[in-house]
Amino acid sequence: MFLRRLDRSQAEAYRRLLERNRLWLQPWMPEVPYPLTLADLQKIIECEHQELKRAQRVDLGIFRSLDEALIGRVALHSIQWGVSFSAGLGYWIDADLAGAGLMTEAVARLVAVAFEEMRLHRLWAGVQPPNRPSQRVLEKLGFVREGLHRQELFINGRWQDQYFYTFLEAEFRARRAQWVVKGWVVD
Ligand SMILES: CC(C)(COP(=O)(O)OP(=O)(O)OC[C@H]1O[C@@H](n2cnc3c(N)ncnc32)[C@H](O)[C@@H]1OP(=O)(O)O)[C@@H](O)C(=O)NCCC(=O)NCCS
Repeated sequence: MFLRRLDRSQAEAYRRLLERNRLWLQPWMPEVPYPLTLADLQKIIECEHQELKRAQRVDLGIFRSLDEALIGRVALHSIQWGVSFSAGLGYWIDADLAGAGLMTEAVARLVAVAFEEMRLHRLWAGVQPPNRPSQRVLEKLGFVREGLHRQELFINGRWQDQYFYTFLEAEFRARRAQWVVKGWVVD
């Protein structure tokens, strides 16, 4: 698979992917708006480009190499510069393709972009306690669970606690050689 920014011509593919995964995403992410029109998705993609230009967010599609189909999303959001140089991580994949190791690889690649190209210092992610697959993705990569943020996000009809995970640039450097062997980072 590979990561790439979405362009407006991919709005329909994005709309179909979201529609297909509406229920899969519901427990863990902000609700997918209903109805979801092509114009909405084109506007969202346009906003993503503007946020990227302002260095406030990096939103990428996960594409399958075989047929270049859009199969998921990864993002760096809440980017803070100044004295912080940090960003939050968000991610999801098509339900039919979960459990094949794809997200671990996609997040690893985005982490490398964050630390090597953007020179960020610290990444973080919040995960609800029952979301074991998401915790596994972060733990396999070496993210450290710092604690529990109580009632942090209103998702799926109620306030949800979130485990707070972080990963530092130095921790990435210590693992980089292993990630090269796995093909996640190019030397
Ligand atoms: C979380 C998510 C992105 C993981 O994607 P994925 O491609 O399946 O991730 P990977 O295959 O790389 O890794 C998943 C790991 O979770 C493990 N796992 C799956 N179900 C599990 C369960 N019920 N309990 C414990 N571990 C579980 C898998 O075995 C795998 O670990 P392993 O490699 O040690 O075997 C995907 O499930 C998803 O999109 N979920 C819905 C949206 C979401 O939760 N986004 C994250 C919000 S924080």
